[in-house]
Amino acid sequence: DNTGTVQLAVIPGDGIGQEVTPEALKVLEAVDSGVKFEQTHYDLGAENYLRTKEVLPPTVLAEIRQHDAILLGAVGGKPNDPDLPPGILERGLLLKLRFELDHYVNLRPSRLFPGTASPLADPGDVDFVVVREGTEGPYTGNGGALRVGTPHEVATEVSVNTAFGVERVVRDAFARAERRPRKHLTLVHKTNVLVNAGSVWWRLFEAVAAEHPDVTTDYMHIDAAMIHMTVNPSRFDVIVTDNLFGDIITDLAAAITGGIGLAASGNVNPDRTAPSMFEPVHGSAPDIAGQQVADPTAAILSTSLLLDHLGHADAAAAVEAAVLADLSDRRPGTTRRTSEIGDAIAARL
Ligand code: NAI
Ligand code: MG
Repeated sequence: DNTGTVQLAVIPGDGIGQEVTPEALKVLEAVDSGVKFEQTHYDLGAENYLRTKEVLPPTVLAEIRQHDAILLGAVGGKPNDPDLPPGILERGLLLKLRFELDHYVNLRPSRLFPGTASPLADPGDVDFVVVREGTEGPYTGNGGALRVGTPHEVATEVSVNTAFGVERVVRDAFARAERRPRKHLTLVHKTNVLVNAGSVWWRLFEAVAAEHPDVTTDYMHIDAAMIHMTVNPSRFDVIVTDNLFGDIITDLAAAITGGIGLAASGNVNPDRTAPSMFEPVHGSAPDIAGQQVADPTAAILSTSLLLDHLGHADAAAAVEAAVLADLSDRRPGTTRRTSEIGDAIAARL
């Protein structure tokens, strides 16, 4: 639906999430998308948990589900806060939303924008997108621990790979590769050691490839992929991989393309049976929170992914172009406040 209103659930979260989310909203309001964003703000995250001892009440999840899309800042408290049990927000909120809303495509575009510094001496023209499986692999909570804290402790996390889950994410990756100029897709896995999961990934990748003769393909083991991404990242176009490998690859991808302040992501439900969620890759950054020094660019770029998902490709491209222009105008040695960067990008729209 390209007209009317979009019901947007907004979860600013904690720390710099509270600072970058208003800038992302500023840009969403400024861009000419032809739709009106009706926002509902949800107070979720570490601060909310410490106050209420609730992470994501079922009634709140049910309300969020009624929206067209979700914009998330970041959640996370102060390091080693004894009142915040480890993993409670990851499992209870972030992973919970991904699993419940069936965000099986975790989308991370990685582009080295002109004027942006990379820690690589000669990165080349980097422009690839990682399609990370978001609902299976070792992150499903399929495991447990016995005899904890004794010399006989047993701990398992079993990687779950279903033919259904693999095929649908592989199909999404081929479709994305097909829409890009280079039309190239790389499968990253560890088929030589993780032979059972590797086999189902490999067979379904080959089967779907046969339906897409216009997309060229290759395969890399995860360890070799880390070498290629560091030595020659411009060779990649679209990468499809499992949940754990994707988690690791995308942090390296963010690092080589100018860092965490620029990396955006989408937790996408391509079947649109529930709202997709868009967020910067970074966390709540308690070390710099509340000082207006966080770069809101990643949060702003996540609205471009949101607009694209909702079918507003022109508006998505306009946001990206405004960011690109802002980045190429940045001068080393000068700093702007979080809100000044948001203002500057919004003004270009
Ligand atoms: P982080 O991404 O919050 O910070 C890592 C480093 O990057 C820090 O030095 C920070 O100051 C800097 N940084 C991050 N975003 C920046 C920005 N926009 N502009 C400038 N500098 C930026 O990762 P960290 O420190 O490991 O985690 C902090 C908290 O965030 C933890 O509680 C963690 O669990 C949570 N977290 C939440 C995520 C989410 O909500 N999706 C993702 C990652 C971490
Ligand atoms: Mg990660």
